[in-house]
This record gives sequence, C-alpha cells and structure tokens, in this order.
Amino acid sequence: MRIQQNISLKPYNTFGIDLPAESFLEIDDHGTLADILTDKALPAKKNILGGGSNVLLTQPVAGLTILNSSKGITKVKEDDNHVWLDVSSGEVWHDFVLYAIANDLAGVENLSLIPGTVGASPMQNIGAYGVEAKETIDSVTFWHLEDKGYLTLNNNECRFGYRDSIFKHELKNKVFITSVRYRLNKKPDFNVSYGAIEQELQKMNISEVSIKAISDAVIAIRTSKLPDPKKIGNAGSFFKNPTISIKQYDQLKTQYPDIPSYPVSETSVKVPAGWLIEQCGWKGFKDGNIGVHQKQALVLVNYGGGNGADIWALSEKVLKSVQDKYGIELEREVQVW
Ligand code: EPU
Repeated sequence: MRIQQNISLKPYNTFGIDLPAESFLEIDDHGTLADILTDKALPAKKNILGGGSNVLLTQPVAGLTILNSSKGITKVKEDDNHVWLDVSSGEVWHDFVLYAIANDLAGVENLSLIPGTVGASPMQNIGAYGVEAKETIDSVTFWHLEDKGYLTLNNNECRFGYRDSIFKHELKNKVFITSVRYRLNKKPDFNVSYGAIEQELQKMNISEVSIKAISDAVIAIRTSKLPDPKKIGNAGSFFKNPTISIKQYDQLKTQYPDIPSYPVSETSVKVPAGWLIEQCGWKGFKDGNIGVHQKQALVLVNYGGGNGADIWALSEKVLKSVQDKYGIELEREVQVW
C-alpha cells in the first residue's frame, strides 16, 4: 500500500483543478479493499475518486482520497436474449462501451464517449441521446463504509432517477462501489429517437443501423458539441435540465414563445438548461481562464490554470440570472468537493 501525502489532484479531475489531496492511494485490485477501509491507522474521512469527471474541487481535499482503477469484465450468465456482465468499477466507461460493441452486445452504444468510470454510472445514472444507464444496470455491489461489509442492490433498490440514485442521497459518501452488473441485449432494440442521431446517421450515409453505427454517430455528435476534457477542462453538463410544472411552462411561453421543452409527465415538462443559460447571455462567456463553453452553455470550462472556487462563483451567477429571468432554480449536476 503506497500512500502519498499532499499530492496534486490535477491529473485526476477532468476540470483540471490543481488542488491537493491530504493523503492519496491508488487501488487497482479490490482484494485488499476491506483491509484498507477498516484500517484504523488511516484517516477516517475517505473520498472515492473514479474518472474525476463529475467533480469540482473547490478546496484542498482532507482525509484519504482513493483513486479506484480496478479493471475487469466477466461474463456471469447468458440466455437467448441477454448477457450479464460484471464490470469492475475502475474500468473506463468508454472502454466498457467498446467491449460491448466488439462483442455485438447492445444497450450502451448511445452512451459512447461519456467520460468517467463504470463506478460512476449508477451513481448519477449517466444518460445521453435518449438512453440512461439504469436501463442496463442489473445490480450494483459496494463496500459500505459505515457498516463495513459488502452489499448488492438490485436495479429497483438503486432508486434511479434523472441523473440521480440512492448513491446521491441515503448512501452519499457511504459506499465504495466495486462492481456493476449490466444486462446487455443480444437482440438490439435501437434507440434513434433523439433527432440528432438520425441526422448524423444520414450524414454518415448509413442505411442499416447497427450498434457500431449508433456509437459512431454519438461520438461524432459529442465531439462536435462538447469540449474534450483533455484539451479544455470541464465536467460535462454542470447543471441538470430542470423539471417545471406545465402551468409555469405555459406562463413562460406567453412571454418567451420559443422556450423548448420535453414531456416528463401529465403535469410537468423538462426545459433544457442550456437554452435558459444561453438566453441569459452566458454562452461563450469568458472571465480570465474560466468560462461557459461556446457550443454548449450547459458546460462550464477551465481553459487552464482556472480555480475551482471561481468556477463555483460563476455557477452561482449563472444560477441567479436564470432564477431572476425565468423564475427557475437550476440544480448542479456535478459533485462539489
Ligand atoms: N440548447 C441551447 N443552447 C445551448 C445548449 C442547448 O439552446 O447552449 C438547447 C437547444 O434547444 C437544444 C436543447 O437545448 O435543442 C438540447 O441540447 P442538447 O441536445 O445538447 O442536450 P442537453 O439537454 O443540453 C443533455 C444532457 C447531456 C447529453 C445530451 C444528449 C443533461 C444535464 N445533459 O444535454 O449530458 O449528452 O442531453 O442526450 O441532461 C452530461 O450529463 O454531462 C451530458 C453532457
């Protein structure tokens, strides 16, 4: 076990914020996890880091930060329609997607190129282009930091919602997810409902939809709109798309006839936060080395050397202006440390 003191977390968060971890340990094998997590000589406060793609560091991180880079994909069962895979939580998400594509297994192709690790996929029920991780997650296994034992929750018990799960509520900061079991489809049921995918497939001259073709289309859309964290620091969507009542939406529509919406239920709709933020004039905003992405207003960016506290302050200003103009309260999607 090699614990390092006071090391910079800059390489381990996609925002590229340069703040130190008090203590730091990388784990690539869960065999010794129980010993480490119960070792009384180690700091009681534990912070679990996967791909660092959904976190904003705003201060030095106290306690022991554990970087989870355990890898492994194992087939556990199969029937005529499905294959169940146990995937170690430190696997890079897109590597898992590529594995599925190479093995002709459908279900995660729309989620191509989402940054981060497999362990984060249930945490915030990652989603894109009409598909959410909850549709293929069978169960989640984790070490409970307080109860000091392994537990497995089935899909229902994870209480998945839009960018949400039990791991952001009752189990927040209490678990170390070790593996996720996915149920992938041998007989694909393609989801091209998201308009941009259909357009992209046409652009690519693809007449026969396949798992690989959808993945390629999603990769093309994402790379054209979203900044590559290797080049510009960011954590994807900084805010969630807010859900508002149809009553409030109808009122807003009289004043702002172009306001877009997606149906959620009979009484509510979702409004794209990117649209609200753009209408408030923030798209492409730059203040020193931080700002709001030019092509997607939902993404806050660090052009290099930016400070997490400043990005937080910018997010406060964005929140306030959307609240003042539209009376809608945005919620942050990223985890703030
Ligand atoms: N829009 C604007 N201006 C902008 C951005 C968006 O007007 O600057 C409006 C447009 O009307 C556009 C609509 O918002 O038609 C939707 O935009 P987009 O398709 O880019 O999707 P989004 O709602 O902004 C969500 C997810 C993304 C995901 C895409 C595609 C959330 C918070 N974000 O964004 O997820 O990739 O849909 O499915 O739900 C992430 O979570 O990190 C992420 C990138």
